[in-house]
Amino acid sequence: MDTSLNIDWGNLPFGYHKTDYNVRCYYRNGSWGELEITSSETINIHMAATALHYGQEAFEGLKAYRGKDGKVRLFRWEENAKRMARSADGIMMEKVPEHIFKEAIFKAVKLNAKYIPPYGTGATLYLRPLLFGSGPQVGVKPANEYMFMVFVTPVGPYFKEGFNPVPIEVVRDYDRAAPRGTGSIKVGGNYAASMLPAHRAHMDGYASVLFLDALEKKYIDEAGPANFFGIKDGKYITPQSDSILPSITNMSLEQIAENIGLKVERRPVPIEELATFEEAGACGTAAIISPISKIYDRLNNVTYEYGEIAGPYSTKLYITLRAIQEAEIEDKHGWTTVIEGI
Ligand SMILES: Cc1ncc(COP(=O)(O)O)c(C=O)c1O
Repeated sequence: MDTSLNIDWGNLPFGYHKTDYNVRCYYRNGSWGELEITSSETINIHMAATALHYGQEAFEGLKAYRGKDGKVRLFRWEENAKRMARSADGIMMEKVPEHIFKEAIFKAVKLNAKYIPPYGTGATLYLRPLLFGSGPQVGVKPANEYMFMVFVTPVGPYFKEGFNPVPIEVVRDYDRAAPRGTGSIKVGGNYAASMLPAHRAHMDGYASVLFLDALEKKYIDEAGPANFFGIKDGKYITPQSDSILPSITNMSLEQIAENIGLKVERRPVPIEELATFEEAGACGTAAIISPISKIYDRLNNVTYEYGEIAGPYSTKLYITLRAIQEAEIEDKHGWTTVIEGI
């Protein structure tokens, strides 16, 4: 570790912090080029690039963890590569071949190794792969050129509360994605659509929002930029919907839930069922689990309460997943990959 950095690892926010290098690759004339390394934080882009006009853009988010044994690991990076390929297909972008994705993320971590937070601080190195249409079009058509890049930034917890329950608010007057739209891929437009209701929720004192299915407003979709789960009667229950992003964290928690004896149900979850859960949480790479203290449904003036202390199953799931990521316990499922040489 480089002590000259002067970073207060224990108090890092979840935000952008400059590092030394980022990695880039261009798709031009029908093929992907060589990876390029740069220290520039800016990109030079054509004013008619499709990313800027038509939202031809997708991104990923994953983390590098410094383990108890001092080694640095990525968690299920292959799933991020696959999801980015699905996102590319969904909005007609050129897919990044897996070997380029891999080389870029490993390089970006290695080149910025001094920014990987030490074990035990609660902070991690967040990786942001980004793919967008960089070629010009004026009509609504896919670009002929694409740019793929990866930057990294050291981050603290997503919610300042860390692993402490947060209140969230049901949204009924906005949708983040249409039923057969782009909700199941990680494209920028979904996030633009979520900003207004999320901002309103923050102003009202809620940490996040709970989106309902856009068609009927009967079922739970997603908890802002995270999947939702509830626990009751020895079951881990998480929504099935075509408009939610398949979360790699949720996929992993489902497996851990099974391992600790919970029955896993992935099915439509009617909003009324919120009243029956013993525990509720939002899950994703950023926070692993954010336990939910209460969910306020403004229109119906109903509050569903789960308590100010995280429930036993949420705690167990959180501790187990984190222990795998930080190599405190055996990675029985082979989810982590050591980045050698740092
Ligand atoms: C809309 C949305 N849902 C869920 C997730 C959680 O996914 P993951 O666990 O793969 O980070 C994210 C974050 O990537 C997200 O943006």
